[in-house]
Amino acid sequence: MRVGVFDSGLGGLTVLSALLEVSSGVEFFYLGDTARVPYGIRSAETVVNYALECAAFLHRFDIDLLVVACNTASAKATKALRERFPQTEVYEVITPAVEEVLKLNPSRVGVIGTPATVVSNVYKNLLLEGNPNLKVLQRATPLLVPLVEEGITEGTVAETVLRHYLEGWRGEIDTLLLGCTHYPLLEETIKKLYPEWGVVNSAKPLAVKLSKQLTLGGENKIRLFFSDRSAFLEEMVQRIPLKGKLEGTEIFSWEEIVI
Ligand code: DGL
Repeated sequence: MRVGVFDSGLGGLTVLSALLEVSSGVEFFYLGDTARVPYGIRSAETVVNYALECAAFLHRFDIDLLVVACNTASAKATKALRERFPQTEVYEVITPAVEEVLKLNPSRVGVIGTPATVVSNVYKNLLLEGNPNLKVLQRATPLLVPLVEEGITEGTVAETVLRHYLEGWRGEIDTLLLGCTHYPLLEETIKKLYPEWGVVNSAKPLAVKLSKQLTLGGENKIRLFFSDRSAFLEEMVQRIPLKGKLEGTEIFSWEEIVI
């Protein structure tokens, strides 16, 4: 089985990592569109175009299943991806995270994500569909993505930025939904600052959902592709534990992924 996973950058490796935890005998092809990150500040049309280009690139490897690891792309481009690639099973990260939050039976949920994800109201609408009595607060937290991409996930700077966004929710929410692939890398710091909150990210619930399909026996194989190599790329890739056989990290120019 061949699985393609894409994200706007490195954050989607948290989703790949969770998928690897439940998989065996799967070939993974990961594309991080590091040349064009962030997606979260772009128009819906641009996000759809980028997502279609990423998916077209991954289809070069005859993938059977596509995971849209990026929340912004999940929010904006899932429908377009399913229409363009009807032969491929397309999974997004939003629904599993919402289901996981609802299982916790919260009363007040805070959702953080990129500006595009928050403006789409996709999390809020799905949460309220599941439980109309929920109080849902939302906040765009755009500084968190560059923070993570720079490798700053703990310490004074990370804590200051997190407090800037989240301090107003102390006592206001009981559950925090991390609506962005990059945020799980800040999860430990968030839990340290706000130990009273339940914290949910999309990666694990999606992996659980796919676990039956991805347990085939044998070694996993992983190939990573990035559309640009920043100074921190390899350091960041190393930080995310990827269980399986890492076959290599390849780089291609962004023109190559444009169809
Ligand atoms: N991967 C994006 C997401 O999950 C965050 C980074 C970006 O803005 O591209 O929404």
